[in-house]
Amino acid sequence: VADDAPASPLTPLAWQGGWRDGCLVLLDQALLPAHEQRLARNTSAQVVADIQRLAVRGAPLLGLAGAYGLVLAQREALAEGGSPAAQQAGFERRAAALAHARPTAVNLPRAVAAARDATHALAHDGAARAQALLAWAQALERQEREACAAIARHGAQALGSARRVLTHCNAGALVTPGWGTALAPLYLLHRRGEAVEAWADETRPLLQGLRLTAWELTRAGIPCTVVAEGAAPGLMRQGRIQAAIVGADRICRNGDVVNKVGTYGVALACRAHGLPFLVAAPRSTFDPAMASGEAVVIEERAGDGDRYLLPGTRPQGVATCEPAFDVTPAALVSAYITELGSHGPGDLPEALFAPL
Ligand code: MRU
Repeated sequence: VADDAPASPLTPLAWQGGWRDGCLVLLDQALLPAHEQRLARNTSAQVVADIQRLAVRGAPLLGLAGAYGLVLAQREALAEGGSPAAQQAGFERRAAALAHARPTAVNLPRAVAAARDATHALAHDGAARAQALLAWAQALERQEREACAAIARHGAQALGSARRVLTHCNAGALVTPGWGTALAPLYLLHRRGEAVEAWADETRPLLQGLRLTAWELTRAGIPCTVVAEGAAPGLMRQGRIQAAIVGADRICRNGDVVNKVGTYGVALACRAHGLPFLVAAPRSTFDPAMASGEAVVIEERAGDGDRYLLPGTRPQGVATCEPAFDVTPAALVSAYITELGSHGPGDLPEALFAPL
């Protein structure tokens, strides 16, 4: 890895050892910031469960968890024994469970499908395939780390003179093997000695902005102010926020952006106040198969809305609607920041949609 592609200071995910004896070590994000606990995972079913309970989360990290999860899947299939066909069926079943563990971030199914296809020719030799899957996942990890560094540079440039920057959810060092996507430009500006001030929506209902973004930025010495959900438009009107930058879970062919619920409102508020709305994402988040945001499956997570409420807060019998993501139309995006540069809507290079 080049010197200018620094590793995540938080190491949210790491493969330790070889394919035969190794394990996937995950920082349990569901427990942050109260507990910094790492989990050693030895089965693909554990990784599926970790993805579903958001111990590992955020689009690029989901892709990596899927890719490393396949190494475990192959190892388990091999250990089960049986005919080559039975072993392959065992692998395919586990691969499908990984790919579908969460529906919205495209990084996960894309990484699983690409790793599976790239190693398919070795399906008759389980050990060789496991080795190849590990090498594939490690290459993706390097690619994502380098993407973070490039996004940092292009994003810092795209921010221009804006230094009071709002973000939504968490798209930082916790969700990539580098310094993040949306947060990478802020880290870079800070390292250059610029007086960056981050503003973080608390991000209802699971509080990724408060629990995760504010935690990792504060650790790094970047001033970060958390605002109650819905407060940002008023702050923009007062001139206290100069730009917004967010990550993405899926970017469609037409540029529609699927990201944490509430992102659309931030984009609308930026448009109303004439502020830049930037979307930072690596090419693994671009979906060549999705024409627009309309057909994207938006995850609904029943019960999440109550997670951080005191018992008794919600009156009995009150219905909830809990989409975890929303779609921001391309027309509201000022620029997409990727490892390839800064692109205007309607100007996305075809290379962003190329195979991983
Ligand atoms: O439900 P989460 O916490 O996985 O949602 C994460 C987001 O919405 C992030 O903004 C997105 O995955 C981009 S991470 C670089």
